[in-house]
Amino acid sequence: MTASGNIFTTHVGEHPGEPNIADPEFIADPFTGYGRLREQAPVLRARYLDGGPVWLVTRLDDVRTVLGDARFVNNPPAAEDAAASRQKLIEQIGLAEELRPYVMGTLLDYDGADHVRLRKLVSRTFTVRRVNELRPQVERITENLLDRLPERAEDGVVDLVEEFGYPLPITVICELVGIPEGDRPQWREWGRGMVSGDPSRFGSVVRAIVDYIADLIELRRAAPREDLLTGLIRTHDEDGDRLSDTEMIAMVLTLVLAGHETTAHLISNGTAALLTHPDQAELLRSDPSLLPGAVHELMRWCGPVHGTRLRYATREVELGGVTIRPGEAVQPILVSANHDPRHTSEPERLDVTRRPAGRGESHVGFGHGLHYCLGAALARQEGEVAFGALLRRYPDLRLAVPAHRLERVPLPLNWRLARLPVRLE
Ligand code: HEM
Repeated sequence: MTASGNIFTTHVGEHPGEPNIADPEFIADPFTGYGRLREQAPVLRARYLDGGPVWLVTRLDDVRTVLGDARFVNNPPAAEDAAASRQKLIEQIGLAEELRPYVMGTLLDYDGADHVRLRKLVSRTFTVRRVNELRPQVERITENLLDRLPERAEDGVVDLVEEFGYPLPITVICELVGIPEGDRPQWREWGRGMVSGDPSRFGSVVRAIVDYIADLIELRRAAPREDLLTGLIRTHDEDGDRLSDTEMIAMVLTLVLAGHETTAHLISNGTAALLTHPDQAELLRSDPSLLPGAVHELMRWCGPVHGTRLRYATREVELGGVTIRPGEAVQPILVSANHDPRHTSEPERLDVTRRPAGRGESHVGFGHGLHYCLGAALARQEGEVAFGALLRRYPDLRLAVPAHRLERVPLPLNWRLARLPVRLE
């Protein structure tokens, strides 16, 4: 292992040799940093964002093991550790006591039977069929946003993160859940509040959404519709088990939190990738049947989520030549796994005609195992519709700044553009 001129030299004080994934240098170029780890130290002790120790896992096979193996869980095995880690998170967010059950009650907060129960109940109504039936609405929402772009331009330049990436998924989630059209401008505002990075704004948005959904549940109980919320109210399993109101509200909040910013950045990262690879954009323009495969490839190449939640070992595990002890935290690095040359030939090359070598997906951009993204089908559909319509409607679309000047949000474990300034023609 070399120790100079690479991330092994970026460390926190008393722990020399351990890379720090919160280091700005590391964040600026995670592909190189994680790529080195993948080849030189595929399971490596490092510093997590809070400074605590964590194992970074960077090869695809190992990432799949961590996410797919019951020896790893989402909550630290020792109850006091779980309580402490939740407390730390709550303090970071600064969230009012009464709102915590909603925000800390997402599917990712549960393991084992509790997770299976919740996931099964929501999956009965959030089905692939529902997602397929939503397609005409996703197309209409997309066309409406694209219609508006010329009037949103300033000096001929539009920011696609603000005007397309963000509004599309939040409006689609409103459509899915069954939020009336008239309330959607308010939801877009809330969506902005959630991603503003301002904790006080986050708290007031959560409170507003919780109150809003509680009222809507009452309305749908009185007058059911064909939407997801009515589905959640009606859903029950063979034994008659159903979601409580708190669980339903937490579920809607989960969908908004998990499905909004992620999809927004798939759309903006993917658009930036196509604009900087005009031959690939041209292939899609001339043959839209390539779009589903292109979304897989864009997820692999520039997916917005670089790391999952932390996992914790429940017992001793040998992985990548090291021993992970019970209770130790593990961070699977999705972006590195997606660029693992053991599974993808020439992984740095963007190729929208690429087909996965084996069965299933060639990437873990939506995770893997029991917590595999519940909204993957919806996100893929939004991507297909968004890229297809954008290329068709604005064939002369081009970046308004040189590619190397595109500004990223300096956030570890994520890949987000701060802005995507384009000229429409
Ligand atoms: C889980 C990525 C869109 C809902 C996950 C996970 C990843 C992911 C990596 C696994 C996290 C872990 O194991 O720790 C993405 C990306 C998206 C996207 C990259 C867009 C491009 C969506 C959408 C929804 C959604 C649109 C819903 C409307 C969820 C939920 C989970 C999840 C509920 C938790 C599942 C569970 O714990 O069982 N997502 N997601 N996601 N995602 Fe997504």
